[in-house]
Amino acid sequence: MTAEHPEKLLSPVLSDSWDDDRPWTLDTYRRHDGYKGLHEALRMDSDAVIALVKDAGLRGRGGAGFPTGMKWQFIPQGDGKPHYLVVNADESEPGTCKDIPLLFANPHSLIEGMIIASYAIRCSHAFIYLRGETVPVLRRLHAAVAEAYAAGYLGKDVLGSGFDLDITVHAGAGAYICGEETALLDSLEGRRGQPRLRPPFPAIAGLYACPTVVNNVESIASVPSILHRGKEWFRSMGSEKSPGFTLYSLSGHVTNPGQYEAPLGITLRQLLEITGGVREGHRLKFWTPGGSSTPMFTEEHLDVALDYEGVGAAGSMLGTKALQIFDETTCVVRAVTRWTEFYAHESCGKCTPCREGTYWLVQLLRRIEAGKGVEGDLEKLNDIADNINGKSFCALGDGAASPIFSSLQFFREEYEQHLREGRCPFDPAASTVWA
Ligand code: NAI
Ligand code: SF4
Repeated sequence: MTAEHPEKLLSPVLSDSWDDDRPWTLDTYRRHDGYKGLHEALRMDSDAVIALVKDAGLRGRGGAGFPTGMKWQFIPQGDGKPHYLVVNADESEPGTCKDIPLLFANPHSLIEGMIIASYAIRCSHAFIYLRGETVPVLRRLHAAVAEAYAAGYLGKDVLGSGFDLDITVHAGAGAYICGEETALLDSLEGRRGQPRLRPPFPAIAGLYACPTVVNNVESIASVPSILHRGKEWFRSMGSEKSPGFTLYSLSGHVTNPGQYEAPLGITLRQLLEITGGVREGHRLKFWTPGGSSTPMFTEEHLDVALDYEGVGAAGSMLGTKALQIFDETTCVVRAVTRWTEFYAHESCGKCTPCREGTYWLVQLLRRIEAGKGVEGDLEKLNDIADNINGKSFCALGDGAASPIFSSLQFFREEYEQHLREGRCPFDPAASTVWA
């Protein structure tokens, strides 16, 4: 990748057809080589498909980066139980907006990927768990699934292969916690969505206590191109441990917010060069590499490679690749307060550190933001976050603690200014994000 030719850094695969007329239809998808990967997969045996995806090095695009092929390989074979594939389309991480646009524009990439994945793990009933608020996407998914049935890609004897597959599309009810894979499974089974103890992981005991692969939308939608174009092609992008292309969601104080597809390992500086940069007349203050659950970065991290290793070594996590950009008009205390209010609202209440801790964080942050903080509040903030982090039942707790730690690390002086001056030093009307 070179900074001299920034346009070369973009790599449209999933977003290749987004600007076409009616990109969501089967006809358009086929014009872009759609379903060729499936034909390829059905010529192979199931284990060979798993091996190919594993060798390509595809890593989960939902946030954690777990190797997709390895997850499929965990499904026990010959166990006599049904196997399930569940696609996590409950995208809710603040700043993350890549799966929903992908489904809206190109639903067949997910459906083709689901058929290939189901064939690989020997599953005959797969589910899509969609974020409930996105009703237009739900309609589009239903229409695309119906098209796939009519074309013989779904149902009995897929394309004459002897393999059967049904897909059920299910809309959740808009709870952030139902994006946690085991809470999602509880919700899909008709119960209140709350995380289950892991292990056992879903690969061993998932939906209806049967072996289940839970994968993110983008992970599954990336599979057909690997089958069609091969593992070397996939590995020609990104880095050795984080190969391939991915969708970044760029939002906040930028000239051109949106979804950008590029190889893993691109830097924020490069992405901003391609996309028009921070809004005119302003400069970057802080940003998130993967949504608010990942520790924030500042200007000094502009050249960090946006892949699992690069972001990890710099002290954060790649997460969902939600690049939220904040300029110098943003009060960091205000931003962290809004995020923390979100976590307190979405905490499922199952475990004490998160249920109580997020509540107390919000009380303290609101007080500091309003200029009513007292001496010792910053130590208390840190202490409460410390009692949530690593002591909560699921990743939501750690996510809630993360902006507290990183904002105190990089912007402690700004917190202290609120305490010292007894007011917020920022004009909320100047910031288009938080006004
Ligand atoms: P995790 O690292 O615990 O697990 C990742 C995946 O690997 C899971 O599917 C898990 O079942 C599987 N796995 C891990 N170890 C395994 C083992 N030994 N055997 C079998 N399977 C195994 O991560 P988690 O808690 O599932 O997800 C956290 C991530 O979710 C965060 O990194 C965050 O970025 C992301 N996230 C994404 C959101 C979104 O809207 N896309 C919302 C909130 C968080
Ligand atoms: Fe529920 Fe929060 Fe505990 Fe997760 S960490 S189980 S969301 S209370």
